[in-house]
Amino acid sequence: MESIQMHINLRKLSLGLAVFLGLSQVSMFAAAQNADATKLYHRSLAATCANCHGTDGKGVPEAGMPLINNLTSQQLLDTMKAYKSGAREGTIMPQLAKGYSDEQLQIIANQLGKK
Ligand code: HEC
Repeated sequence: MESIQMHINLRKLSLGLAVFLGLSQVSMFAAAQNADATKLYHRSLAATCANCHGTDGKGVPEAGMPLINNLTSQQLLDTMKAYKSGAREGTIMPQLAKGYSDEQLQIIANQLGKK
C-alpha cells in the first residue's frame, strides 16, 4: 500500500519536473526571441534616418543631408529633442522629430551615436 502511494507520488513529481523543464525551455526560447526582436526594433528605428542621412548616419553632404555620424549619442539626443520642442529650426527635422516618443529618440541616439 505504502509503496503504491510512493510510486504515485514519484510519478507526480516526475511529471511536474517534466512540465517545469519544458516550460523553462519555452521561456528561455521566448527570452532569446525577445532580445532579437528588441535588437531588430532598435535597428529599424535608426534605419528610418538612413533614407536621408545615409546608412549608419554617414550622410550625403553633397545633397544637403548633414553628416550625423560625427555626433555622440548625447548630442544626437539633444538635437532631436531641440527639433521636437521647436527650439531648433529646420525644414524637415522638426516635423520628423515630433513623430518619435522621447524613449524612441533615446533608442535612436544610442543606436546611431558615435561610440
Ligand atoms: C526626409 C529626410 C530626413 C530624414 C528621414 C531624417 N533627416 Fe535628419 N536632417 C534632414 C535635413 C534636411 C536636415 C537639415 C535640417 C533641416 O532642414 O531640417 C537634417 C538634420 C539633422 C540633424 C542635425 C545635424 C547637424 O549637425 O546639424 C540631426 C542630428 C538629424 N538630422 C538626425 C536625424 C535622425 C536621428 C533621423 C532619424 C530619426 C533623421 N535625422 C531623419 C533630413 C532628414
